Amino acid sequence: MSELSREEIESLKSPLATKVELHEEIGSTQERARELAREGASHGTLVVSKVQTGGRGRLGRRWGSPAGGLWMSLVLRPDVQAQVAARITQAAAVGVAKALRELGVEARIKWPNDLLVDGRKICGILAESSVGNVPVAAKKVGTGEERRVDFVVLGVGLNANLEPQDLGVPDGEATTLRSELGYDVDLISLLRSLLYHLDFEMGRIEDFGAILDDWRALDCTLGERVRVQRFGETLEGMALDLGAEGELLLETRDGVVELFEGEIEQLRRERT
Ligand code: BTN
Repeated sequence: MSELSREEIESLKSPLATKVELHEEIGSTQERARELAREGASHGTLVVSKVQTGGRGRLGRRWGSPAGGLWMSLVLRPDVQAQVAARITQAAAVGVAKALRELGVEARIKWPNDLLVDGRKICGILAESSVGNVPVAAKKVGTGEERRVDFVVLGVGLNANLEPQDLGVPDGEATTLRSELGYDVDLISLLRSLLYHLDFEMGRIEDFGAILDDWRALDCTLGERVRVQRFGETLEGMALDLGAEGELLLETRDGVVELFEGEIEQLRRERT
């Protein structure tokens, strides 16, 4: 089984690993990749660390990142309008789910982008974008500028070759590949597959309908009763479907509400 090494990651020849930094330990690959992006790092710059001491998740939460996991952040520079950036998080979830399923792990996506196995989280995704105004061709009407994505830092935290109790989360909340499969996976092969699927999904980001169709086939939220905190209020309802931009359509007592972000809690399982 291969140890992670920079040379081996570069030898994958993935368009998402054209420049690679591999750390034994770092605060957060997300912070490092963002620093590199601000310095002009190109699309496909990949930062991986065997351990993170300050890993962070969505909503400012801590992300336990001991040895054995795959902790990585990618610099992406998709040539798209600013509003397309929001799609990346769900596209990445589809890519990661496909890679996990190739390993025989029945991963499902909890809206918007958590990867769960039997209700336990196995992978978290954090996509943070930077947008800017760029001049548009003179023949276009308007201000002469449009908001476009400058870069996206896509963080993936995959609980791989470690025990769930090493993650520092309450029992039953998280799982790992080791615990699902009963053996340790080759991290280089896993990375090859992840990068392949992420690159595929990023390559069709403008065809978001197709990505959402795959998302629906992999989801574990639609058809469930969920609770969500929004603007200081608690909403409860049935997760009906996704809208065209991946927003969750929640049927509440007061009608259908569109959720573009947030953390949902699934109340009752209706799918077997
Ligand atoms: C979530 O809250 O579900 C997202 C977790 C994202 C964790 C990954 S691990 C690699 C990268 N570095 C970080 O500090 N966070 C992301």
